[in-house]
Amino acid sequence: MAASLRINCKPVSTAFRVNPASKCSRRPFSVSCAAANGPQKRYSITLLPGDGIGPEVISVAKDVLKLTGSLEGIEFNFQEMPMGGSALDLVGVPLPDETLAAAKNSDAVLLGAIGGYKWDNNAKHLKPETGLLQIREGLKVFANLRPATVLPQLVEASTLKREVAEGVDVMVVRELTGGIYFGKPRGFRTDENGEEVGFNTEVYAAYEIDRIARVAFETARKRQGRLCSVDKANVLEASMLWRRRVTAIAEEYPDVELSHMYVDNAAMQLVRNPKQFDTIVTNNIFGDILSDEASMITGSIGMLPSASLGSSVLTKSRGPGLFEPIHGSAPDIAGQDKANPLATILSAAMLLKYGLEEEDAARRIENAVLDTLNKGLRTGDIYSTGTKLVGCKEMGEAVLRSVDSQVHAAV
Ligand SMILES: NC(=O)c1ccc[n+]([C@@H]2O[C@H](COP(=O)([O-])OP(=O)(O)OC[C@H]3O[C@@H](n4cnc5c(N)ncnc54)[C@H](O)[C@@H]3O)[C@@H](O)[C@H]2O)c1
Repeated sequence: MAASLRINCKPVSTAFRVNPASKCSRRPFSVSCAAANGPQKRYSITLLPGDGIGPEVISVAKDVLKLTGSLEGIEFNFQEMPMGGSALDLVGVPLPDETLAAAKNSDAVLLGAIGGYKWDNNAKHLKPETGLLQIREGLKVFANLRPATVLPQLVEASTLKREVAEGVDVMVVRELTGGIYFGKPRGFRTDENGEEVGFNTEVYAAYEIDRIARVAFETARKRQGRLCSVDKANVLEASMLWRRRVTAIAEEYPDVELSHMYVDNAAMQLVRNPKQFDTIVTNNIFGDILSDEASMITGSIGMLPSASLGSSVLTKSRGPGLFEPIHGSAPDIAGQDKANPLATILSAAMLLKYGLEEEDAARRIENAVLDTLNKGLRTGDIYSTGTKLVGCKEMGEAVLRSVDSQVHAAV
C-alpha cells in the first residue's frame, strides 16, 4: 500500500501531523495522527474488496477513511471479507455465509467491485454477480442512490455539449430488491409449439413502492425539492400501481414537487436536457439503465459512487448500508495502477453521510476530492490535455494530503 497510515499513535499536542517520507514528491508519505482526546466514536466497517481493480480502489478508500476518521474523532474497525470471484476461488461460493454475517454485524459495508473473465462461463449460481444480488438481498437494502454530478473540473469529459452538461446534478433513486430481477415465476420452458421460451415477472407490492417513494421524497427534500417518478404506466400493471402509490405518498411531502414521466421519454430527456431533473425515482430495471445513462453524462464511471440503503434510513434504526462505486472490476486495467479510485473514495463519503450520519467527515472527503481535481491530477479515464496523468496510488496519496490539509474547495 502506497500511503502508510498509523492511527492512534502516541498523542501529540496538535491533532495530527504530516511527515513527508521523502523530499521526492513521487514517494509515498506517511501520516501520523491522534485525536487529542482519542476517538469519540467507533464504527465497524466491513470491506469487500472483490476482484479486478476492487482491491486497489478499496485500499485507497480505506486509507482515506482512516485518516478522515482520525481527524474527526472517529475510529474505524475494518474487517476485510472475500466476495465475488475471490470468494469463489477461496471457498466455492460468491457470497460466503461468514461474509454476509460480518456485513450484517457491521455499521456499514464498503464494496469494491466483483467479476472477471475467469468466472464468466460459470453456472449462474457460481457467478460473482450472483454474490452481488445475494448481499443486496441479505442486507435488505432496497434503495439505491446514485448521484450523477458533472463537476466543473470535468465538464470536458462529458460526451454531451458543454452547455448541456454543465451544472448537471441528478440523483437517481432506484428500487433495488424487487421488480423483474427478483419476480417469480421466472425461468425457461418449451411452449406448445416446441419453441424454447425465457420468461421473467415484473411485480411490485404496494409496500415496496411506498418505502422507496418515501426514501426518494426524503432525498429530494434535502436537494432541490423536485422528484420525477419514472414508470411505464401506459403499458405495465406494475407501473400503474407504482404511479398510484407514489402519488398517494406525495401527500406526506407537500414541500416536494412531484412529476411523472414514462421511461422511454425519460431516457431521451436525460440526454436532451438533463438539468431539468433533480431527483428521479424508479423501479429496479429502469433504474439500472437510467442511472448508467445519467452516469455517462458525467464523463466517467470511475467518478461515480452509490449508496444502497435499507429501512434504517426511514426509521433511523441501525442496519448497515452498502456503499460501492458504480463501476465494475475493470479487468482490462486491473493490477496496472490505472484505476480511478475517486468513485470509491466518494462512496466512502456517502457511507459517512448516509450510513453513519457523519456529515462533517463526509464533507471533508468530498472537498479533498474536489481539491485534488482542482490541482489538475487525473487518472487515465478522466485525463485531458493540460492535466497531470497519475495512477491509482498517486491519486489516493493526493486525496490523503487534501484530507489532511482540510482544504475547503469551492464546488
Ligand atoms: N458492482 C459491481 O461489482 C459490478 C458492476 C458492473 C460490472 N461488474 C463486473 O465487472 C466486470 C467488467 O465489466 P464491464 O467491463 O462491463 O464494466 P467495468 O465498469 O468494469 O468497465 C467498463 C470500462 O470502464 C473502465 N473503468 C471502470 N472502472 C474504472 C475506474 N475506476 N477507473 C478507470 N477506468 C475504469 C474499464 O477499464 C472499462 O474500460 C464484469 O465481470 C462485470 O460483471 C461488476
